[in-house]
Amino acid sequence: MIKIAPSILSADFSRLADEIAEVEKAGADLIHVDVMDGCFVPNISIGQPVVRSIRKTTKLPLDVHLMIEKPDRYLKEFIDAGSDRITFHIEADTDVNWCINTLREFGVSVGIALRPETPISAIRQILDGIDIVLVMGVEPGFGGQRFMESVLPKISELRKFFKGEIEVDGGVNRETICQVINAGADTLVAGNAVFGSGDSGKAVKELKKLATKC
Ligand code: DX5
Ligand code: ZN
Repeated sequence: MIKIAPSILSADFSRLADEIAEVEKAGADLIHVDVMDGCFVPNISIGQPVVRSIRKTTKLPLDVHLMIEKPDRYLKEFIDAGSDRITFHIEADTDVNWCINTLREFGVSVGIALRPETPISAIRQILDGIDIVLVMGVEPGFGGQRFMESVLPKISELRKFFKGEIEVDGGVNRETICQVINAGADTLVAGNAVFGSGDSGKAVKELKKLATKC
C-alpha cells in the first residue's frame, strides 16, 4: 500500500487544525512537517512548538523532515513534541550515529534524507540501521517546485537492496506520481498538489486512487 503524506508547508497556517482534519478524513496516511532553519536551506518554516500543537489535533503519525544544520541540537525537542518519525539530512553537519541511536532509544522511526545530487553511496554504511530513506525530488527549501526526473534512477537502485521505506518528497502530483511509484517508492509527500489544489480532501483521494492504478 502506497502512503500519502500531505506536507503542511503548503497549508493555510491560520487554520492548520482544519486543514489537517480535512486530509485525515480523506485518507491521508501521515502528516509531513517541513522544518527549515534558513541555514541548511534558504527558507524558514516552523519548529517544535507547531509539532507540539498539531500533535493534539490528529491521530495520524507526524512525519517530521528536518532541513536544518546540526539536527542533533534539537532532536530531543522534536521527539518530546510528539514526532513519530524524524528524518534528517545526511548532508547536514551532525553526528549521524548519535542521531540514529537517539531516535531508536526513544522509539521514533529513523529517516535519512538525500538532496537530489547526493548519491546512495553517502548512506550505504548506515542503511541497515535506518527505517526510511527520503529521496528529495526537488532542491529542499520550497514547495511547489518541478519534480527532477534525474532522481528516478536513484530510487530504483535503492529499491534493489534497501528493505526499508523509500519516501519521495518534492514535486509529487497527479502527473508524476506513477513515475515515482514505478521506480519503487512507498511513501509520497505532496504539498502543493494537496493544499494548493483548492480542495485538499479531494486531492488526497485522487492521489490515493491513482496510486492503485500505476
Ligand atoms: C521541500 C519540502 C517538501 C515540500 C513538498 O523542501 O521538503 O516537503 O513541501 O512540496 P511540493 O509537494 O509542493 O513539492
Ligand atoms: Zn519535506
